[in-house]
Amino acid sequence: MSNTAITYTQYHDERQLASIMDLIDTELSEPYINMTYRYFVHTWPQLTFLAHDHTTAQSQSQSLAQNSALAVGVVVCKQERHKSGLMRGYIAMLSVRTDYRKRGIATKLVRMAIDAMISGGAEEIVLETEVDNSTSIAFYKRLGFMAEKRLYRFYMNGKDAFRLCLPVVEGEDKYG
Ligand SMILES: CC(C)(COP(=O)(O)OP(=O)(O)OC[C@H]1O[C@@H](n2cnc3c(N)ncnc32)[C@H](O)[C@@H]1OP(=O)(O)O)[C@@H](O)C(=O)NCCC(=O)NCCS
Repeated sequence: MSNTAITYTQYHDERQLASIMDLIDTELSEPYINMTYRYFVHTWPQLTFLAHDHTTAQSQSQSLAQNSALAVGVVVCKQERHKSGLMRGYIAMLSVRTDYRKRGIATKLVRMAIDAMISGGAEEIVLETEVDNSTSIAFYKRLGFMAEKRLYRFYMNGKDAFRLCLPVVEGEDKYG
């Protein structure tokens, strides 16, 4: 498999929802219901991005290829003004299929999301991750995120979370 067949697109229609839910439900411990996904992708469609692998579809016709491309990664975000007064971008969900990891797919997805949130006026970007998810913590720290606080028993499975934050400083390289 080569990375050249991976494409990145913004969320554009409800037919993508099943792939998004499948990618996230298999990887994240928190059980999300349909309404939660819809809340994010319908309110902020410009802040959800998907990665597809077209490798297996290359020999097929154009229209078939579009339909049969495999969804291999997703990032789902939102953006709102926080009570602090800052416009806050929030990365709610991020997942890459196990067999597609360590190839820069999550990096590309998160960078697209960060750029879109900054274009929409974000002054900081935050997320939570389980305190023992060392892969996720290493991944986000490499992008310039810093641990802000520990949230006790944040998840339904009883685990604590770290809130990670990326301050957006105008004119600075936002990726650390
Ligand atoms: C976290 C996750 C999204 C990373 O996806 P990915 O596509 O493999 O990430 P990338 O290839 O862009 O990784 C870039 C960098 O992140 C870090 N990283 C990624 N996976 C890592 C691992 N297993 N251990 C340590 N660092 C890791 C590395 O610095 C890596 O750079 P390198 O490839 O030059 O070493 C993926 O592992 C995943 O889906 N995990 C399950 C769901 C999850 O934990 N989501 C985040 C919590 S909300």
